[in-house]
Amino acid sequence: MKTSATSLADLAFPADFAWGAATAAYQVEGAVAEEGRGESIWDRFSATEGKVRNGDSGAVACDFYHRYRDDVALMRELGVNAFRLSVAWPRIVPDGSGVANPAGLDFYDRLVDDLLAAGIRPFVTLYHWDLPQALEDRGGWPERGTVDAFCDYVEVVAARLGDRVDRWVTHNEPRVASWLGYGWGMHAPGRTNERDALAAAHHLLLSHGRAVEILRRESPHAQVGIVLDPFPVYPASAGASDAAAARHMDGFHNRWFLDPIFKGRYPEDLLDHFGANAPRVEDGDFRQIAVPLDFIGVNYYRREVVAHSENGARTVHMPDSDYTDMGWEVSPEGLYDLLVTIRDEYGPKAIYVTENGAAFGDLRAHDGSVRDPERQDYIAGHIRVIGRAIAAGVPIAGYFVWSFLDNFEWAHGYNKRFGIVYVDYPTLARIPKSSFYWYRDFIAAATRAALPRAASS
Ligand code: GCO
Repeated sequence: MKTSATSLADLAFPADFAWGAATAAYQVEGAVAEEGRGESIWDRFSATEGKVRNGDSGAVACDFYHRYRDDVALMRELGVNAFRLSVAWPRIVPDGSGVANPAGLDFYDRLVDDLLAAGIRPFVTLYHWDLPQALEDRGGWPERGTVDAFCDYVEVVAARLGDRVDRWVTHNEPRVASWLGYGWGMHAPGRTNERDALAAAHHLLLSHGRAVEILRRESPHAQVGIVLDPFPVYPASAGASDAAAARHMDGFHNRWFLDPIFKGRYPEDLLDHFGANAPRVEDGDFRQIAVPLDFIGVNYYRREVVAHSENGARTVHMPDSDYTDMGWEVSPEGLYDLLVTIRDEYGPKAIYVTENGAAFGDLRAHDGSVRDPERQDYIAGHIRVIGRAIAAGVPIAGYFVWSFLDNFEWAHGYNKRFGIVYVDYPTLARIPKSSFYWYRDFIAAATRAALPRAASS
């Protein structure tokens, strides 16, 4: 049975729950050469033949840079009380270091004010993968000096917006930025070196810890966290080799990032596995990385069922499951297990589901509308398990649909549509999909039925 009608009667969300939608700068803004923005690694990567499907790039994207006012008005119609965006580092520090670009700061200043005026709380991510190319030319994230450059940039942004922004995310998915970018070449900057990937991951984590301290100073009333993309891994059978494969994959993708942040160390089994490629850790690094956080953001799309293979683990196709256009298995139960595991293993103060959603091959009907019942089912099913997890005592504080708009899906270009708003790329027109109207009505009903504040704390 599909969850087309989420039974609200079973669910109770706190009155101050964040109901939101998410985007990221490079995926929506466009205007890559305007008002002093410098080149990012994604501009360079997209311009490199064979890297992005169809030769697509974020040069225009959704043109959010010019259309943000209309988009904020549309968010208001949606009824979200939160919007997750990221700041483009190359708009703020075009050359990676040195003087800040006032026009770049002005843009985010206006955007934040517009959101606040609409009653929408900005959740601002400082790094969603668009490193200034100038810093990559000096070695990129595998270089420890990039940590200092990041801190200088964070300082500038926090000094400007920290009086109004009170939810900050340092990094988005350091796992993806390091492994897909430096280890496997699928994302910018396109390197394929395990040692670089591990050094990049270490420096991303270190820069996270240092940024938290800067944000607390510049934005003293704010809550600060990091966004990861952990996924639950299940063995395909009861056999010992499949269990070991699942444990390995979980360590590689999840514990490698969660353990240092919450426990101040890398997992032993993975240190053994990486051997000489493991990152160089300096004195004090772990103390910095494990700085206490106000929340952790979890981006959740799928679970993995794995079997042992020569390379460690291989994903098993589940014949009875649905899959999205990304080839990802739909599993709301996986989110439930993941949230409970994170609570039990790491005890975060609060968890936001900072991204959740699905790509499907949406089409416009003759009347111009876009009907996306699969996405609606996907979102409803995941919100339902979040309600169950809250009832089980997991401190979940908000939910963000990925994504507000169809946008540039990295190496897949514009071929994958995640939005609850359809973007007609030739005209850039926005067409809310049926999932948008469903989410609007759901938020309104959930807000009416919300638990009083005291009962939720
Ligand atoms: C992510 C990303 C998004 C992706 C989304 C779908 O954090 O992985 O934040 O940029 O578009 O996950 O793949």
